[in-house]
Amino acid sequence: MTPANSGNSLTVTDNRTGKTYEVPVENGAFKTMDFRQIKESDDDFGLLGYDPGFLNTASCKSNITFIDGDRGILRYRGYPIEQLAEHSTFLETAYLLIKGELPDQERLSQWTFNIRHHTMTHSNLVKFMDGFRYDAHPMGILVGTVGALSTFYPDAKDIGNIDSRKLQIRRLIGKIPTLAAMSFRHSMGFPYVQPDNDLSFAGNFLSMMFRMTELRYTPNPVLERALDVLFILHADHEQNCSTNAVRAVGSSGVDPYTAVAAGCAALYGPKHGGANEAVIRMLMEIGSVDKVPEFIQSVKAGSGRLMGFGHRVYKNYDPRAKIIKKIAFEVFEETGRSPLLDIALELERIALEDDYFISRKLYPNVDFYSGLIYQAMGFPMDMFPVLFAIGRIPGWLSQWSEHVKDGDQKIARPRQIYLGEAERDWVAVDSRPRNRVEEQLHDTCRL
Ligand code: ACO
Repeated sequence: MTPANSGNSLTVTDNRTGKTYEVPVENGAFKTMDFRQIKESDDDFGLLGYDPGFLNTASCKSNITFIDGDRGILRYRGYPIEQLAEHSTFLETAYLLIKGELPDQERLSQWTFNIRHHTMTHSNLVKFMDGFRYDAHPMGILVGTVGALSTFYPDAKDIGNIDSRKLQIRRLIGKIPTLAAMSFRHSMGFPYVQPDNDLSFAGNFLSMMFRMTELRYTPNPVLERALDVLFILHADHEQNCSTNAVRAVGSSGVDPYTAVAAGCAALYGPKHGGANEAVIRMLMEIGSVDKVPEFIQSVKAGSGRLMGFGHRVYKNYDPRAKIIKKIAFEVFEETGRSPLLDIALELERIALEDDYFISRKLYPNVDFYSGLIYQAMGFPMDMFPVLFAIGRIPGWLSQWSEHVKDGDQKIARPRQIYLGEAERDWVAVDSRPRNRVEEQLHDTCRL
Protein backbone atom coordinates (compact mmCIF):
# COMPACT_ATOMS: atom_id res chain seq x y z
CA MET A 1 0.00 0.00 0.00
CA THR A 2 1.17 3.59 -0.70
CA PRO A 3 0.13 5.88 2.10
CA ALA A 4 -1.11 9.42 1.39
CA ASN A 5 1.87 10.80 3.29
CA SER A 6 4.60 8.25 3.81
CA GLY A 7 6.16 10.39 6.59
CA ASN A 8 2.93 9.97 8.51
CA SER A 9 2.48 6.24 8.49
CA LEU A 10 3.15 2.95 10.23
CA THR A 11 5.36 0.24 8.80
CA VAL A 12 3.91 -3.07 9.89
CA THR A 13 5.64 -6.38 9.47
CA ASP A 14 3.50 -9.50 9.62
CA ASN A 15 5.77 -12.05 11.26
CA ARG A 16 3.48 -14.85 10.08
CA THR A 17 4.36 -14.15 6.44
CA GLY A 18 7.36 -11.81 6.60
CA LYS A 19 5.46 -9.26 4.47
CA THR A 20 5.66 -5.55 5.26
CA TYR A 21 2.83 -3.01 4.88
CA GLU A 22 2.66 0.72 5.19
CA VAL A 23 -0.47 2.09 6.86
CA PRO A 24 -1.33 5.82 6.79
CA VAL A 25 -1.76 7.71 10.07
CA GLU A 26 -4.12 10.68 10.19
CA ASN A 27 -5.15 12.69 13.28
CA GLY A 28 -3.18 10.26 15.46
CA ALA A 29 -5.18 7.27 14.22
CA PHE A 30 -5.04 4.57 11.56
CA LYS A 31 -8.04 3.02 9.85
CA THR A 32 -8.51 -0.57 10.99
CA MET A 33 -9.83 -1.29 7.46
CA ASP A 34 -6.25 -0.70 6.24
CA PHE A 35 -5.28 -3.82 8.18
CA ARG A 36 -7.76 -5.99 6.27
CA GLN A 37 -5.20 -6.39 3.47
CA ILE A 38 -2.88 -8.16 5.93
CA LYS A 39 -3.54 -11.84 5.32
CA GLU A 40 -1.81 -15.12 6.06
CA SER A 41 -3.09 -16.59 2.80
CA ASP A 42 -5.35 -15.52 -0.09
CA ASP A 43 -8.47 -17.04 1.45
CA ASP A 44 -7.78 -15.44 4.85
CA PHE A 45 -10.42 -12.76 5.74
CA GLY A 46 -7.71 -10.29 6.79
CA LEU A 47 -6.65 -8.80 10.11
CA LEU A 48 -9.35 -7.43 12.45
CA GLY A 49 -9.02 -5.10 15.44
CA TYR A 50 -10.26 -6.67 18.73
CA ASP A 51 -11.39 -3.99 21.18
CA PRO A 52 -14.27 -4.91 23.52
CA GLY A 53 -15.65 -1.75 25.15
CA PHE A 54 -13.91 0.44 22.51
CA LEU A 55 -11.01 1.17 24.87
CA ASN A 56 -8.80 2.36 22.03
CA THR A 57 -11.09 2.70 19.02
CA ALA A 58 -12.50 5.99 17.74
CA SER A 59 -15.96 5.50 16.22
CA CYS A 60 -16.23 8.99 14.71
CA LYS A 61 -14.58 12.32 14.12
CA SER A 62 -16.31 14.98 16.20
CA ASN A 63 -16.21 18.76 16.66
CA ILE A 64 -18.37 18.87 19.78
CA THR A 65 -16.62 17.98 23.04
CA PHE A 66 -12.94 17.78 23.98
CA ILE A 67 -11.65 15.90 27.03
CA ASP A 68 -8.07 15.64 28.25
CA GLY A 69 -8.40 13.18 31.10
CA ASP A 70 -4.78 13.48 32.27
CA ARG A 71 -5.04 17.24 32.67
CA GLY A 72 -8.67 17.31 33.89
CA ILE A 73 -9.93 19.36 30.92
CA LEU A 74 -13.48 19.36 29.52
CA ARG A 75 -14.58 21.78 26.79
CA TYR A 76 -17.79 22.11 24.80
CA ARG A 77 -17.09 23.50 21.31
CA GLY A 78 -13.80 24.86 22.70
CA TYR A 79 -15.28 26.62 25.74
CA PRO A 80 -13.95 25.40 29.13
CA ILE A 81 -16.64 23.81 31.29
CA GLU A 82 -15.67 26.11 34.19
CA GLN A 83 -16.57 29.22 32.15
CA LEU A 84 -19.85 27.78 30.93
CA ALA A 85 -20.81 26.72 34.46
CA GLU A 86 -20.08 30.20 35.75
CA HIS A 87 -21.56 32.39 33.02
CA SER A 88 -23.88 30.37 30.78
CA THR A 89 -27.33 28.86 31.15
CA PHE A 90 -28.38 25.35 30.23
CA LEU A 91 -30.40 26.50 27.22
CA GLU A 92 -27.55 28.67 25.94
CA THR A 93 -25.14 25.73 26.38
CA ALA A 94 -27.62 23.47 24.55
CA TYR A 95 -27.61 25.98 21.66
CA LEU A 96 -23.81 25.98 21.67
CA LEU A 97 -23.59 22.19 21.57
CA ILE A 98 -26.16 21.82 18.82
CA LYS A 99 -25.30 24.79 16.60
CA GLY A 100 -21.56 25.06 17.31
CA GLU A 101 -21.45 28.73 18.38
CA LEU A 102 -22.79 30.82 21.26
CA PRO A 103 -25.96 32.67 20.19
CA ASP A 104 -26.35 36.45 20.01
CA GLN A 105 -29.19 37.92 22.10
CA GLU A 106 -31.79 37.67 19.33
CA ARG A 107 -30.99 34.05 18.53
CA LEU A 108 -30.91 33.13 22.23
CA SER A 109 -34.35 34.69 22.79
CA GLN A 110 -35.77 32.89 19.75
CA TRP A 111 -34.21 29.56 20.81
CA THR A 112 -35.51 29.95 24.38
CA PHE A 113 -38.99 30.77 23.02
CA ASN A 114 -38.87 27.75 20.71
CA ILE A 115 -37.92 25.31 23.48
CA ARG A 116 -40.45 26.74 25.96
CA HIS A 117 -43.21 26.35 23.40
CA HIS A 118 -42.53 22.67 23.01
CA THR A 119 -42.87 21.71 26.66
CA MET A 120 -46.41 20.32 26.51
CA THR A 121 -47.12 16.72 25.55
CA HIS A 122 -50.00 15.22 23.59
CA SER A 123 -52.81 14.35 26.01
CA ASN A 124 -52.67 10.70 24.87
CA LEU A 125 -49.23 10.52 26.47
CA VAL A 126 -50.96 10.98 29.84
CA LYS A 127 -52.91 7.78 29.20
CA PHE A 128 -49.69 6.05 28.21
CA MET A 129 -48.04 7.27 31.42
CA ASP A 130 -51.02 6.13 33.49
CA GLY A 131 -50.54 2.60 32.15
CA PHE A 132 -47.33 2.14 34.13
CA ARG A 133 -47.57 0.39 37.50
CA TYR A 134 -47.63 2.71 40.54
CA ASP A 135 -44.10 1.63 41.52
CA ALA A 136 -42.54 1.80 38.03
CA HIS A 137 -38.99 3.16 38.05
CA PRO A 138 -39.03 6.72 36.59
CA MET A 139 -36.12 5.86 34.32
CA GLY A 140 -38.03 2.89 32.88
CA ILE A 141 -40.97 5.24 32.30
CA LEU A 142 -38.67 7.74 30.56
CA VAL A 143 -37.24 5.05 28.24
CA GLY A 144 -40.78 4.00 27.27
CA THR A 145 -42.31 7.45 26.86
CA VAL A 146 -39.42 8.98 24.91
CA GLY A 147 -39.63 6.01 22.53
CA ALA A 148 -43.41 6.51 22.32
CA LEU A 149 -42.90 10.12 21.18
CA SER A 150 -41.80 8.75 17.81
CA THR A 151 -45.37 7.50 17.24
CA PHE A 152 -46.74 11.00 17.88
CA TYR A 153 -44.37 12.65 15.42
CA PRO A 154 -44.09 10.44 12.32
CA ASP A 155 -42.62 13.47 10.46
CA ALA A 156 -39.45 12.80 12.49
CA LYS A 157 -38.60 9.93 10.15
CA ASP A 158 -37.44 12.50 7.60
CA ILE A 159 -33.99 12.70 9.15
CA GLY A 160 -32.36 13.97 5.93
CA ASN A 161 -34.48 17.15 6.15
CA ILE A 162 -32.74 19.85 8.19
CA ASP A 163 -36.00 21.62 9.12
CA SER A 164 -37.43 18.38 10.42
CA ARG A 165 -34.27 17.72 12.44
CA LYS A 166 -34.42 21.20 13.96
CA LEU A 167 -38.08 20.73 14.94
CA GLN A 168 -37.49 17.34 16.59
CA ILE A 169 -34.51 18.75 18.51
CA ARG A 170 -36.68 21.57 19.93
CA ARG A 171 -39.45 19.15 20.78
CA LEU A 172 -37.13 16.73 22.55
CA ILE A 173 -35.32 19.36 24.65
CA GLY A 174 -38.71 20.92 25.53
CA LYS A 175 -40.56 17.73 26.37
CA ILE A 176 -37.98 15.64 28.25
CA PRO A 177 -38.38 17.64 31.52
CA THR A 178 -42.17 17.29 31.22
CA LEU A 179 -41.94 13.52 30.80
CA ALA A 180 -39.36 13.31 33.59
CA ALA A 181 -41.56 15.23 36.04
CA MET A 182 -44.62 13.20 35.02
CA SER A 183 -42.72 9.97 35.72
CA PHE A 184 -42.00 11.20 39.26
CA ARG A 185 -45.58 12.42 39.90
CA HIS A 186 -46.94 9.13 38.60
CA SER A 187 -44.81 7.16 41.06
CA MET A 188 -46.00 9.42 43.91
CA GLY A 189 -49.65 9.34 42.86
CA PHE A 190 -49.65 13.14 42.49
CA PRO A 191 -51.57 14.88 39.66
CA TYR A 192 -49.41 16.03 36.76
CA VAL A 193 -48.42 19.71 36.64
CA GLN A 194 -48.62 21.55 33.33
CA PRO A 195 -45.51 23.45 32.20
CA ASP A 196 -45.23 27.11 33.19
CA ASN A 197 -43.54 28.78 30.24
CA ASP A 198 -42.82 31.97 32.15
CA LEU A 199 -40.29 30.11 34.27
CA SER A 200 -36.72 29.25 33.29
CA PHE A 201 -35.89 25.76 32.00
CA ALA A 202 -34.80 24.55 35.46
CA GLY A 203 -37.50 26.60 37.27
CA ASN A 204 -40.24 25.09 35.13
CA PHE A 205 -38.90 21.59 35.81
CA LEU A 206 -38.90 22.23 39.58
CA SER A 207 -42.47 23.53 39.25
CA MET A 208 -43.62 20.41 37.36
CA MET A 209 -41.91 18.25 40.00
CA PHE A 210 -42.87 19.89 43.25
CA ARG A 211 -45.84 22.25 42.79
CA MET A 212 -48.73 21.24 45.02
CA THR A 213 -51.78 23.42 45.80
CA GLU A 214 -50.17 26.83 45.32
CA LEU A 215 -51.49 28.85 42.36
CA ARG A 216 -48.02 29.55 41.09
CA TYR A 217 -44.75 27.84 41.98
CA THR A 218 -41.82 30.15 42.75
CA PRO A 219 -38.53 28.27 42.58
CA ASN A 220 -35.79 29.01 45.10
CA PRO A 221 -33.30 30.95 42.93
CA VAL A 222 -30.24 29.22 44.45
CA LEU A 223 -31.66 25.74 43.81
CA GLU A 224 -32.89 26.79 40.36
CA ARG A 225 -29.41 28.02 39.38
CA ALA A 226 -27.72 24.98 40.97
CA LEU A 227 -29.92 22.63 38.92
CA ASP A 228 -29.26 24.62 35.74
CA VAL A 229 -25.49 24.34 36.33
CA LEU A 230 -25.79 20.60 37.01
CA PHE A 231 -27.58 20.25 33.67
CA ILE A 232 -24.74 22.19 31.99
CA LEU A 233 -22.15 19.88 33.57
CA HIS A 234 -23.96 16.79 32.26
CA ALA A 235 -24.77 18.22 28.81
CA ASP A 236 -22.15 16.23 26.88
CA HIS A 237 -19.19 13.96 27.49
CA GLU A 238 -18.13 12.86 24.00
CA GLN A 239 -18.45 9.13 23.15
CA ASN A 240 -19.75 7.77 26.48
CA CYS A 241 -21.96 4.66 26.65
CA SER A 242 -25.33 6.39 26.11
CA THR A 243 -24.06 8.72 23.37
CA ASN A 244 -22.57 5.73 21.61
CA ALA A 245 -25.99 4.05 21.91
CA VAL A 246 -27.72 7.09 20.36
CA ARG A 247 -25.22 7.16 17.49
CA ALA A 248 -25.32 3.39 16.93
CA VAL A 249 -29.12 3.17 16.92
CA GLY A 250 -29.35 6.43 14.92
CA SER A 251 -26.97 4.94 12.32
CA SER A 252 -29.83 2.68 11.20
CA GLY A 253 -31.64 5.84 10.00
CA VAL A 254 -34.31 5.65 12.70
CA ASP A 255 -36.03 8.83 14.01
CA PRO A 256 -34.31 10.76 16.85
CA TYR A 257 -36.95 9.86 19.49
CA THR A 258 -36.12 6.18 19.09
CA ALA A 259 -32.38 6.87 19.03
CA VAL A 260 -32.63 9.02 22.19
CA ALA A 261 -34.76 6.33 23.90
CA ALA A 262 -31.76 4.02 23.33
CA GLY A 263 -29.56 6.63 25.02
CA CYS A 264 -31.95 6.72 28.01
CA ALA A 265 -31.84 2.90 28.13
CA ALA A 266 -28.03 2.94 28.26
CA LEU A 267 -28.11 5.60 30.99
CA TYR A 268 -30.43 3.42 33.09
CA GLY A 269 -27.53 1.06 33.84
CA PRO A 270 -25.78 1.37 37.21
CA LYS A 271 -22.35 1.68 35.60
CA HIS A 272 -23.44 4.83 33.78
CA GLY A 273 -26.35 6.86 35.20
CA GLY A 274 -26.60 5.14 38.57
CA ALA A 275 -23.24 5.83 40.23
CA ASN A 276 -24.40 8.87 42.25
CA GLU A 277 -27.11 6.75 43.84
CA ALA A 278 -24.38 4.24 44.78
CA VAL A 279 -22.45 7.09 46.44
CA ILE A 280 -25.43 7.99 48.64
CA ARG A 281 -25.93 4.34 49.61
CA MET A 282 -22.21 4.06 50.45
CA LEU A 283 -22.31 7.24 52.61
CA MET A 284 -25.40 5.95 54.45
CA GLU A 285 -23.70 2.61 55.02
CA ILE A 286 -20.58 4.28 56.48
CA GLY A 287 -22.94 6.18 58.78
CA SER A 288 -20.57 8.58 60.58
CA VAL A 289 -17.29 10.44 60.09
CA ASP A 290 -15.38 8.33 62.62
CA LYS A 291 -16.05 5.18 60.54
CA VAL A 292 -14.35 6.66 57.44
CA PRO A 293 -10.76 5.40 58.09
CA GLU A 294 -12.10 1.87 58.63
CA PHE A 295 -14.08 2.09 55.38
CA ILE A 296 -11.03 3.32 53.43
CA GLN A 297 -9.04 0.38 54.81
CA SER A 298 -11.72 -2.05 53.64
CA VAL A 299 -11.65 -0.51 50.13
CA LYS A 300 -7.86 -0.84 50.03
CA ALA A 301 -8.17 -4.44 51.18
CA GLY A 302 -10.35 -5.08 48.11
CA SER A 303 -13.78 -5.41 49.73
CA GLY A 304 -15.41 -2.85 47.43
CA ARG A 305 -14.83 0.44 45.66
CA LEU A 306 -14.94 4.00 46.83
CA MET A 307 -17.97 5.03 44.79
CA GLY A 308 -17.73 8.42 43.09
CA PHE A 309 -13.96 8.01 42.75
CA GLY A 310 -12.02 7.10 39.62
CA HIS A 311 -12.89 7.51 35.98
CA ARG A 312 -12.04 5.74 32.73
CA VAL A 313 -10.96 8.99 31.10
CA TYR A 314 -10.03 11.38 33.95
CA LYS A 315 -6.78 10.47 35.66
CA ASN A 316 -6.92 13.79 37.49
CA TYR A 317 -9.65 15.64 39.41
CA ASP A 318 -12.80 15.52 37.22
CA PRO A 319 -13.32 19.24 36.41
CA ARG A 320 -17.06 18.81 36.89
CA ALA A 321 -16.54 17.46 40.43
CA LYS A 322 -14.74 20.67 41.47
CA ILE A 323 -17.70 22.79 40.32
CA ILE A 324 -20.25 20.44 41.88
CA LYS A 325 -18.48 20.53 45.24
CA LYS A 326 -18.84 24.34 45.29
CA ILE A 327 -22.53 24.09 44.34
CA ALA A 328 -23.10 21.58 47.14
CA PHE A 329 -22.10 24.17 49.75
CA GLU A 330 -24.36 26.80 48.15
CA VAL A 331 -27.32 24.41 48.12
CA PHE A 332 -26.77 23.28 51.71
CA GLU A 333 -26.81 26.94 52.80
CA GLU A 334 -30.44 26.94 51.64
CA THR A 335 -31.57 23.44 52.55
CA GLY A 336 -29.53 22.77 55.67
CA ARG A 337 -26.40 20.63 55.74
CA SER A 338 -26.75 16.90 55.17
CA PRO A 339 -24.77 14.82 57.68
CA LEU A 340 -23.68 12.73 54.68
CA LEU A 341 -21.70 15.74 53.38
CA ASP A 342 -19.31 15.55 56.33
CA ILE A 343 -18.70 11.86 55.63
CA ALA A 344 -18.06 12.67 51.95
CA LEU A 345 -15.61 15.47 52.83
CA GLU A 346 -13.70 13.21 55.21
CA LEU A 347 -13.59 10.39 52.63
CA GLU A 348 -12.21 12.78 50.03
CA ARG A 349 -9.65 14.25 52.45
CA ILE A 350 -8.26 10.86 53.47
CA ALA A 351 -8.37 9.35 49.98
CA LEU A 352 -6.51 12.27 48.40
CA GLU A 353 -3.65 11.79 50.89
CA ASP A 354 -3.52 8.01 50.62
CA ASP A 355 -0.94 6.36 48.38
CA TYR A 356 -3.43 3.68 47.21
CA PHE A 357 -5.61 6.35 45.55
CA ILE A 358 -2.73 8.67 44.54
CA SER A 359 -0.78 5.91 42.78
CA ARG A 360 -3.88 4.77 40.85
CA LYS A 361 -4.83 8.37 39.97
CA LEU A 362 -8.23 8.04 41.64
CA TYR A 363 -9.94 11.38 42.20
CA PRO A 364 -13.57 12.37 42.87
CA ASN A 365 -15.70 12.17 39.73
CA VAL A 366 -18.92 13.98 38.76
CA ASP A 367 -21.01 11.60 40.86
CA PHE A 368 -19.26 12.09 44.20
CA TYR A 369 -21.23 15.19 45.25
CA SER A 370 -24.11 15.38 42.71
CA GLY A 371 -26.33 12.85 44.52
CA LEU A 372 -25.99 14.80 47.78
CA ILE A 373 -27.23 17.94 46.01
CA TYR A 374 -30.15 16.17 44.35
CA GLN A 375 -31.11 14.60 47.66
CA ALA A 376 -30.98 17.97 49.44
CA MET A 377 -33.26 19.43 46.77
CA GLY A 378 -35.85 16.74 47.48
CA PHE A 379 -35.29 14.39 44.53
CA PRO A 380 -35.66 10.69 45.37
CA MET A 381 -32.73 8.48 44.36
CA ASP A 382 -34.75 6.86 41.55
CA MET A 383 -34.82 10.26 39.84
CA PHE A 384 -31.03 10.70 39.73
CA PRO A 385 -30.52 9.03 36.31
CA VAL A 386 -33.58 10.90 34.99
CA LEU A 387 -31.92 14.20 35.96
CA PHE A 388 -28.79 13.03 34.17
CA ALA A 389 -30.91 12.33 31.05
CA ILE A 390 -32.43 15.84 31.06
CA GLY A 391 -28.93 17.34 31.15
CA ARG A 392 -27.54 14.97 28.51
CA ILE A 393 -30.26 15.56 25.93
CA PRO A 394 -28.49 18.38 24.00
CA GLY A 395 -25.33 16.27 23.90
CA TRP A 396 -27.19 13.26 22.49
CA LEU A 397 -28.94 15.43 19.91
CA SER A 398 -25.85 17.32 18.79
CA GLN A 399 -23.96 14.02 18.44
CA TRP A 400 -26.92 12.47 16.57
CA SER A 401 -27.06 15.49 14.18
CA GLU A 402 -23.32 15.31 13.59
CA HIS A 403 -23.66 11.59 12.87
CA VAL A 404 -26.53 12.08 10.39
CA LYS A 405 -24.48 14.67 8.47
CA ASP A 406 -21.20 12.71 8.55
CA GLY A 407 -20.47 11.23 5.11
CA ASP A 408 -17.92 8.80 6.62
CA GLN A 409 -20.57 7.07 8.72
CA LYS A 410 -22.23 3.77 7.93
CA ILE A 411 -24.66 1.63 9.88
CA ALA A 412 -22.88 0.60 13.11
CA ARG A 413 -22.08 -3.04 12.73
CA PRO A 414 -19.01 -4.42 14.54
CA ARG A 415 -17.16 -7.56 13.56
CA GLN A 416 -16.70 -10.55 15.86
CA ILE A 417 -14.10 -13.21 16.37
CA TYR A 418 -16.00 -16.47 16.02
CA LEU A 419 -14.71 -19.15 18.41
CA GLY A 420 -17.68 -21.54 18.23
CA GLU A 421 -18.15 -24.93 16.59
CA ALA A 422 -17.04 -25.58 13.01
CA GLU A 423 -19.74 -26.86 10.61
CA ARG A 424 -21.47 -30.06 11.78
CA ASP A 425 -24.54 -32.08 10.80
CA TRP A 426 -27.90 -31.97 12.58
CA VAL A 427 -28.58 -35.05 14.76
CA ALA A 428 -32.02 -36.53 15.49
CA VAL A 429 -33.17 -35.90 19.06
CA ASP A 430 -32.97 -39.57 20.13
CA SER A 431 -29.42 -39.87 18.84
CA ARG A 432 -27.90 -36.92 20.72
CA PRO A 433 -25.29 -38.09 23.27
CA ARG A 434 -26.51 -37.49 26.84
CA ASN A 435 -23.31 -35.90 28.20
CA ARG A 436 -23.36 -33.35 25.36
CA VAL A 437 -26.91 -32.23 26.25
CA GLU A 438 -25.95 -31.90 29.94
CA GLU A 439 -22.93 -29.80 29.02
CA GLN A 440 -25.17 -27.46 27.04
CA LEU A 441 -27.64 -27.18 29.92
CA HIS A 442 -24.77 -26.34 32.25
CA ASP A 443 -23.63 -23.55 29.86
CA THR A 444 -27.18 -22.22 29.61
CA CYS A 445 -27.48 -22.06 33.40
CA ARG A 446 -24.25 -20.12 33.55
CA LEU A 447 -25.79 -17.48 31.26
N1 ACO B 1 -12.13 2.63 44.55
C1 ACO B 1 -11.08 1.83 44.81
N2 ACO B 1 -10.25 1.38 43.86
C2 ACO B 1 -10.50 1.73 42.61
C3 ACO B 1 -11.58 2.56 42.27
C4 ACO B 1 -12.41 3.03 43.29
N3 ACO B 1 -13.45 3.82 43.05
N4 ACO B 1 -11.59 2.75 40.92
C5 ACO B 1 -10.56 2.07 40.45
N5 ACO B 1 -9.88 1.45 41.46
C6 ACO B 1 -8.65 0.66 41.36
C7 ACO B 1 -8.93 -0.71 40.79
O1 ACO B 1 -9.18 -1.65 41.78
C8 ACO B 1 -7.64 -0.97 40.04
O2 ACO B 1 -6.67 -1.31 41.00
P1 ACO B 1 -5.54 -2.44 40.68
O3 ACO B 1 -4.70 -1.83 39.59
O4 ACO B 1 -4.82 -2.65 41.95
O5 ACO B 1 -6.30 -3.65 40.20
C9 ACO B 1 -7.23 0.39 39.49
O6 ACO B 1 -7.81 1.34 40.41
C10 ACO B 1 -7.76 0.66 38.08
O7 ACO B 1 -9.17 0.41 38.05
P2 ACO B 1 -9.99 0.03 36.75
O8 ACO B 1 -11.26 -0.61 37.16
O9 ACO B 1 -9.10 -0.72 35.80
O10 ACO B 1 -10.25 1.47 36.11
P3 ACO B 1 -11.33 1.79 35.00
O11 ACO B 1 -10.82 3.00 34.30
O12 ACO B 1 -11.67 0.61 34.17
O13 ACO B 1 -12.63 2.13 35.88
C11 ACO B 1 -14.38 3.27 36.94
C12 ACO B 1 -13.19 3.38 35.97
C13 ACO B 1 -15.35 2.17 36.47
C14 ACO B 1 -15.12 4.60 36.97
C15 ACO B 1 -13.82 2.93 38.36
O14 ACO B 1 -12.91 3.93 38.78
C16 ACO B 1 -14.95 2.75 39.39
O15 ACO B 1 -15.49 1.65 39.50
N6 ACO B 1 -15.28 3.83 40.16
C17 ACO B 1 -16.36 3.76 41.12
C18 ACO B 1 -17.72 3.87 40.42
C19 ACO B 1 -18.02 5.29 39.96
O16 ACO B 1 -17.83 6.27 40.67
N7 ACO B 1 -18.49 5.39 38.70
C20 ACO B 1 -18.87 6.68 38.10
C21 ACO B 1 -17.96 7.06 36.98
S1 ACO B 1 -18.37 8.66 36.33
C22 ACO B 1 -19.63 8.39 35.26
O17 ACO B 1 -19.80 7.35 34.71
C23 ACO B 1 -20.59 9.51 34.97
